[in-house]
Amino acid sequence: MELGLSYDDVLLVPKKSGVTSRKEVSTETFLTKKIKLKIPLLSANMDTITEANMAIAIAELGGIGIIHRFLSIYDQAHEVLKVKRYRNAVIKNPYTIKYNSKLSDALKFMKDKGVKSLLVVSDDDKLTGILTSRDLKLIKNNYEIPISEIMAPRERLVVSSPDISIGEADSLMVINRVEKLPLINPDWTIAGLITKKDIEKQISHPNSSLDSKGRLLVGAAIGVKEDALQRARALIEAGADILVIDIAHGHSDLAINTLKKLKSQFPNIPVIAGNVCTAEGTKELIEVGADAVKVGVGGGSVCTTRIITGAGFPQLSAITNCAREAGKYGIPIIADGGIRSSGDITKAIAAGASTAMIGRLFSGTDQSPGIPIVKDNKKYKVIRGMASFGAKLGREERDGGEKGNGNKSYDNIFDFIPEGVEAMVPYAGSVSEIIYQLIGGLKSGMSYAGAKNIEEIRGNAEFVQITSAGLKESHAHDVESLS
Ligand code: XMP
Repeated sequence: MELGLSYDDVLLVPKKSGVTSRKEVSTETFLTKKIKLKIPLLSANMDTITEANMAIAIAELGGIGIIHRFLSIYDQAHEVLKVKRYRNAVIKNPYTIKYNSKLSDALKFMKDKGVKSLLVVSDDDKLTGILTSRDLKLIKNNYEIPISEIMAPRERLVVSSPDISIGEADSLMVINRVEKLPLINPDWTIAGLITKKDIEKQISHPNSSLDSKGRLLVGAAIGVKEDALQRARALIEAGADILVIDIAHGHSDLAINTLKKLKSQFPNIPVIAGNVCTAEGTKELIEVGADAVKVGVGGGSVCTTRIITGAGFPQLSAITNCAREAGKYGIPIIADGGIRSSGDITKAIAAGASTAMIGRLFSGTDQSPGIPIVKDNKKYKVIRGMASFGAKLGREERDGGEKGNGNKSYDNIFDFIPEGVEAMVPYAGSVSEIIYQLIGGLKSGMSYAGAKNIEEIRGNAEFVQITSAGLKESHAHDVESLS
């Protein structure tokens, strides 16, 4: 019987280091053979972890978020769209409204699309003005007024031809004190829009994960049931950069067949397949086209799979075994589940992973879905396993609601065997602070291992197995914590 080890069973042996500052250490890594990330982190496709807010925050910092699939297809695609529309070098298809629409229509449209301004067009789609929140401030309760009466008209607009560079656009907006620069063709039809806000976002987040159009990268999960391909199509159309086949036991015909179908119908979209914990599982998924393999069965903070089923594999050994196999094909491994500290991320990468997926550590933040709850004057947020009873109940509610016949059926609930729990975690503020700490710790860990980049530490580090005495010694001990 093989000995399975996890993060707490080992430490990285410190090696001679030439690193003098964390700034010298690069955490750039590969999500797939083709997609590079500046930091090796993914936010988990769980309904208490990743919707658009989380995906935007993590992509701005150089990682990527995976939008969970426990939403209707429409709503999940909408979350993807929110991320893709959040930031653009140039907005290719800005939202427009006809000049003779009423203010009430414009307000509704702006609210639906989550934007604060609209380009106004004539019947033959030529730019006639721009409506911004500044114009709206002047209107007192007259929602029937046509927008042509309140918009900034064409003669007051600062516009440019589409071939302007971002730097020139920035100067033009600064000189003219405007926040929006419509790009127009010679006949005044719209060719795009550049906003000051987008330029500021680029400056404040230079490490962002971006697609070729300057939009944030985002992934989205699909299942393996009937609607998987329909969901995949909607997500791809919304702009998802990568799909994740989300199934607890990824070394299964269900996962393999879904991957085959995806690859034949949508050959251009990269796919992360999983979850597996063995070399055999990794090999089979790669051989049918996986672009990355997600490793981890039962190690997550809210997982009870190992207890309920008796199946699983300690995470560090699972990563080592899977990464060794995946390395033969040059396919990256994602370490998913059980990461509780920056040190665990360093160990996962040292064991062969290229990136790590995070649930619990991101769950208490402002960017995770849901609002904080208060208990004994302390703030908490909720995290739940996607195989927990609560998550299952939520899905039944949603599907009942979607059928729209008012007859919600809970038949599926009674034979459900949960493999996850619902829990509370302390409120933790902004996810960017958590990521700052995690990446700082990872860089220091890489420096201890004598590595300046991920390639130098990945799969090359030396581990020492420790005992429970060693683990006790590793934590703060023999003192009373102040917090
Ligand atoms: P952490 O430890 O970061 O792990 O919270 C996140 C990962 O946990 C997995 N997950 C589950 N596993 N039952 C399970 O056995 C569940 O209900 C469950 N929900 C999430 C998932 O892989 C996630 O990325």
